Amino acid sequence: MAQFVIQGGTPLHGDIRLSGAKNAASKMLIASLLTDEECVFENFPRIGDTNITRELCEAIGSRIVVEGSRLRIVTPTLSTTTVGALSRRNRIPVLALGALLGRAGEAEVPFVGGDKIGPRPIDIHIQALTQLGATITTGEQSYRATVSGRLRGANITFPYPSVGATENTIFASVFALGRTVIRNAAIEPEILDLIKLLQNMGAIIELGTDRRIMIEGVKHLRGAHHTILPDRNEAVSFACLAIATKGDVIVKGAVQDHLVTFLNTVRRIGAEYEVLHDGIRFWCPGSLRAAHIETDTHPGFMTDWQQPLVVALTQAKGRSVVHETVYEDRFGYAEDLNSMGARIKVGTECLGDISCRFKDKICSHTALVEGPTELHGTELRVRDIRAGIAHVIAALTAHGTSTIDNIEELDRGYERVDERLRYIGAQIKRVSEN
Ligand code: EPU
Repeated sequence: MAQFVIQGGTPLHGDIRLSGAKNAASKMLIASLLTDEECVFENFPRIGDTNITRELCEAIGSRIVVEGSRLRIVTPTLSTTTVGALSRRNRIPVLALGALLGRAGEAEVPFVGGDKIGPRPIDIHIQALTQLGATITTGEQSYRATVSGRLRGANITFPYPSVGATENTIFASVFALGRTVIRNAAIEPEILDLIKLLQNMGAIIELGTDRRIMIEGVKHLRGAHHTILPDRNEAVSFACLAIATKGDVIVKGAVQDHLVTFLNTVRRIGAEYEVLHDGIRFWCPGSLRAAHIETDTHPGFMTDWQQPLVVALTQAKGRSVVHETVYEDRFGYAEDLNSMGARIKVGTECLGDISCRFKDKICSHTALVEGPTELHGTELRVRDIRAGIAHVIAALTAHGTSTIDNIEELDRGYERVDERLRYIGAQIKRVSEN
């Protein structure tokens, strides 16, 4: 067990480079299971989450070689179609349902874990795979999927544009007979990157307007060489760190196309950015202003961005409103920030224009942030990846010393974050707990 010890209160300055996207990399490994040829990934992030997925793949027959940020994976034959319970530590195993069904016609995966930010059902995945012709049964600890013959293309309309369900349905339908149309699909940049990989592997996938994805089944996929897109969630985390600490940071590798909504927010709260040829610079020229934010699916304001932004909003003048419409329970960290001197009130009311699925449910999905507040160091414990980065940003903004426990959760999503933050002037030490 290790913890971070952070001395805050110093503006951060310098360049920090993004890793490959966490929320694309693991899916690329699962995509590689669809071929018996080698896939090579550049810009592959070495984080806890991808390590869990590597273990999953190796346990079912993949051979993996890592050379720096390049990863080679080949799965000549599947040694089993049952995914072990070890991989319950993240939510990736559920995606193996679609991929293994596609390649082998059967799959068994354990109930999935991941961050505790809401109930996170998989009904949309199950419904879509069933429409493709799979039979899915729920055991005591696992889901089992089988198909007699081949999966068949289908017209599928999602009730909500789920990222995971879109990926699972694409995996299952690349080998299905005929054409699959997914309506109301998720179109996050990580999904488009996955589609690019699958296209290079030989799949036929088209993107329509209005969240439509069309997949024409093929008989065979080959290996491919693919560079994983940079992590836009890291980009936002580092941008909010620059803004909250009143620093000036160039986020190398940040791509404007992936961050359009966030960049508008940066300007609205009185911070600044400049798009450079190899990244985006973020700084805070004066005092920050409060804002009204509603999280949404892409191209809206991502749910994974609200935690770092809320820390910056504790430094803004006025009352900010943050309405979380993607997850029911993603403000647990607000009480941690309040213990540092923030004034955040979490409520159950919907405050905003987005038609929210939680309207008639009693769940704490809206936060009112009063600012500016002076933060002071304290003892914290990481709840989940994004709450953990909010802790780090708050601790670096606060006066005094903070300790953060359970940083293994943070390591699941951010590669060597302490080392990289030290380059831009952060006083952050990783120490082993006694
Ligand atoms: N949902 C359902 N039924 C389903 C699937 C989803 O009700 O069958 C609901 C979920 O409960 C949630 C919403 O739909 O309320 C969105 O879930 P989605 O399926 O889109 O999310 P995911 O695929 O489980 C990925 C990322 C998350 C990110 C979300 C939203 C990965 C590994 N995880 O999760 O990332 O917040 O999309 O963009 O890609 C993170 O990186 O910290 C993280 C949580």
